[in-house]
Amino acid sequence: MKGSIPDDKIQQMRDGADMFELVSRYVQLKRSGANYVGLCPFHSEKSPSFSVNPGRQIFKCFGCGVGGDAFEFLMKIEGLSFPEAARRIAGEVGVDIEETQLSPEEDRRRQERDRLQRVNAVAAEFFHRQLIESPEAEACRQYLNRRGYGKTSAAEYQLGYAPDRWDALTGHFRQQGVELDDARTLGLIRRRDKGEGDYDLFRGRLIFPIHDLSGRIVAFGGRILGDGQPKYINSTESPIYHKGQVLFGLFGARQAIRQATEVILVEGYFDQLALARAGVGNAVATCGTALTVEHAQLLKRYAKRVLLLFDNDKAGRNATFKAMELLLPGGLETAVIELDEGEDPDSFLQKRGKEAFAERLQAARPVLELYMQEQLASAPANPSGVSRAAQQVLEKLVLLPNPLEVDLSLKELAQWTEIEVDLLRQQLEQVRHQQHEREARSRRSASSSEIAPQVPLPAEANLAVKGRSADKLTPADGKLLKMIIFEKDGRGQVEVQGVDTFFFEPFACRLASELLQQLAGVVPGQELTRLQQRPELLAQLPMPLEYDSVEYAGVWRQMLENNRRKTADKRRRQQVKDL
Ligand code: UTP
Ligand code: MN
Repeated sequence: MKGSIPDDKIQQMRDGADMFELVSRYVQLKRSGANYVGLCPFHSEKSPSFSVNPGRQIFKCFGCGVGGDAFEFLMKIEGLSFPEAARRIAGEVGVDIEETQLSPEEDRRRQERDRLQRVNAVAAEFFHRQLIESPEAEACRQYLNRRGYGKTSAAEYQLGYAPDRWDALTGHFRQQGVELDDARTLGLIRRRDKGEGDYDLFRGRLIFPIHDLSGRIVAFGGRILGDGQPKYINSTESPIYHKGQVLFGLFGARQAIRQATEVILVEGYFDQLALARAGVGNAVATCGTALTVEHAQLLKRYAKRVLLLFDNDKAGRNATFKAMELLLPGGLETAVIELDEGEDPDSFLQKRGKEAFAERLQAARPVLELYMQEQLASAPANPSGVSRAAQQVLEKLVLLPNPLEVDLSLKELAQWTEIEVDLLRQQLEQVRHQQHEREARSRRSASSSEIAPQVPLPAEANLAVKGRSADKLTPADGKLLKMIIFEKDGRGQVEVQGVDTFFFEPFACRLASELLQQLAGVVPGQELTRLQQRPELLAQLPMPLEYDSVEYAGVWRQMLENNRRKTADKRRRQQVKDL
């Protein structure tokens, strides 16, 4: 990415950045000779070994060894990519890197994002003022008070209230001259099915603002006051909000997470806030969705260890082990904090307090250990039951990237099952081998399947295949396949999570894995050329293959998410049928 910003601009920014001022925002610095020193923000320490050299515009920690220039400092402390860090520094130093960078389309999208963020800011301000001032919000204030939140904490977390009317926010937007189309894009208001005008999404609800990593509000969650359904509603996905990539509370928690090098993952907005208020600053919550690979990658920027703190019920357990499958391959150490049945972190803290919570935190157990225990406990205590459970565990052990950990876990499994460790080791190799075989088989069958006549060009393919294999693709699958071809990041997602996470139909799965194979390492822009080497594959794809990056830009993540969910549903139904 470094290549996309001209070297002279980078140099200009490096010269212009004020290292002392930048670091001072995060670290208390004291002069020491020509340098400044302070407590390192990247590791825990009691005496300062972190030093800034303002002359050379660099920092260095003699305790943990990290060091670098202003870009590297910002990237590390804020978890930014290089372009993100560069953009911030450019803004502050007054170097213009955008003009030369953005295509007209990118520029349009950038402007749209800015507008959408401003609209959310207007909404947040409105909701908050309602909560603090409006007589209509009395019930909400009482609800918050009952849960232990007064005016100060409402202000600290920018909580709000959406009046119980159809057009409170819509009316405010009109009055403020907000572009209603933008508000619609954000899902905050919707056009009425019949009649004129729009209506508000959030009505009569307590509002939680959801921030991105720069502290801008990208979405809202709204809780009903008291009982009733749905308990929460959330902003829809939009060009500035992809729920699979955002974690509630991360903006405020990121420094604490980095300091602790670990993060606590909870389910609810109130859980995250309860922990923060109890002085546990390193917790985040997903926003009404299961953990995604993108979440895992995000957490990895800040933490080495993830502590899962989900409800202690069947659904919570399932979510825990699902999260395990995403976190372990990324090399994130994963442990589980256990509460009592029926408790969530919020209610636990209310009833038992901080000390009791700290004990539970101390007692967190490695997730694989828990999985092992769960599998063995639920298995019948006979040879076939135990061996089946062992097999289940082995299938998870292959997720561990660290061979030392695999070895230790194998020994543990051997102890628990009383199976010889060497035998387990052999069996583990077998599992690995079978996995490779499965992957290879799906690749082979994909390439030998459904060979259409030789159709070298997309346009001809279009004619030739009408009414044939392309018909077997659902429109959603067809669109997603197209996305995989042209959207490098989307392709990466499918590669990481596996084609059968996103496609249910075997035919679509095969096409997708064929595409991944054929497009491995392709230079953007060269995708079609690559595919033309495989006319028979091309012939099975939906036509025409033109890709409108504008049309897909805001939605491809959502397409992935939709297909993932639909596929999971279908698999579940299939399993039920197979029982
Ligand atoms: P919970 O039902 O556990 O609620 O949902 P909670 O967070 O403990 O809230 P309180 O304490 O009962 O008030 C956990 C999370 O799941 C999402 C929300 O993000 C919520 O915080 N959720 C839940 C939804 O998005 N929609 C729902 O209808 C319910
Ligand atoms: Mn709760």
